[in-house]
Amino acid sequence: MLPSDLIRFKETRRPITILTAWDSVSASIVEEAGADVVLVGDSLAMVVLGHETTLPVTLEQMLHHTQAVLRGFRKPLKKQPLVVCDLPFLSYQCGEDKAVEAAGTLLKNSYAAAVKIEGAEPEVIDVIERLIRMGIPVMGHLGLTPQSVHRFGYRRQAEDKISQEKIFRQAIELERIGCFSIVIEHVPEDLASKLQAHLKIPIIGIGAGEKCDGQVRVTADLLGLTPKQPPFSPPLISGRQMCIDALKGWVTQQRSQGESPTTKTSEQ
Ligand code: KIV
Repeated sequence: MLPSDLIRFKETRRPITILTAWDSVSASIVEEAGADVVLVGDSLAMVVLGHETTLPVTLEQMLHHTQAVLRGFRKPLKKQPLVVCDLPFLSYQCGEDKAVEAAGTLLKNSYAAAVKIEGAEPEVIDVIERLIRMGIPVMGHLGLTPQSVHRFGYRRQAEDKISQEKIFRQAIELERIGCFSIVIEHVPEDLASKLQAHLKIPIIGIGAGEKCDGQVRVTADLLGLTPKQPPFSPPLISGRQMCIDALKGWVTQQRSQGESPTTKTSEQ
């Protein structure tokens, strides 16, 4: 799968599915489930590494987990999902050269084929333009941008007309400079649907309503593995409780076997 295939999917109105993965087990499950794209999102900072925000995850950690994800796939290379990796906080905010080096390191040392970058301030636009010129496909990310949590929080974005117009302009700019798709997170449904209708590149929603070209979800949220899911991403199953119940059963079984008279006799 190539990044440009997502644009073809939009043209033929085929909904796009994107799920996150963080290691080889989650990658093999998501691949088997048939997702088009596997995102190694920096949400792994919170989901896997136990941080309060996505900010602490490093480029080295992103690479380490991306390599594990790629090792988890079972299908032949051509049939594997497209892998997109988040550029973590501070790997692209300090200038174009540093960003090219960071994105290049990810693509050079794993089979990730594209990076995702949050925001569209003028400095970020310069960085994305340079990456695309260097042959590195970029997925944009607007709306709730967790790397800016200290500025905007985790609340729904674009509640007023001015900020909706700003996001609209930013999305057009991201398309103009060559992004192959845009994630739009936790914004009013109406804004996402206007973007979907206006842009040629796919709009991938999370907490942005159904009228997008595709949806992205944090797999651990969908499976109910994280202690608390965001309001816009309810779990499909109570995975955490199911795991606890299964493991509790095993622990209880082991203890009861240890206490059984047969075991005691055989130990004597
Ligand atoms: O890091 C991540 O998992 C993401 C998704 C929420 C889109 O950016």
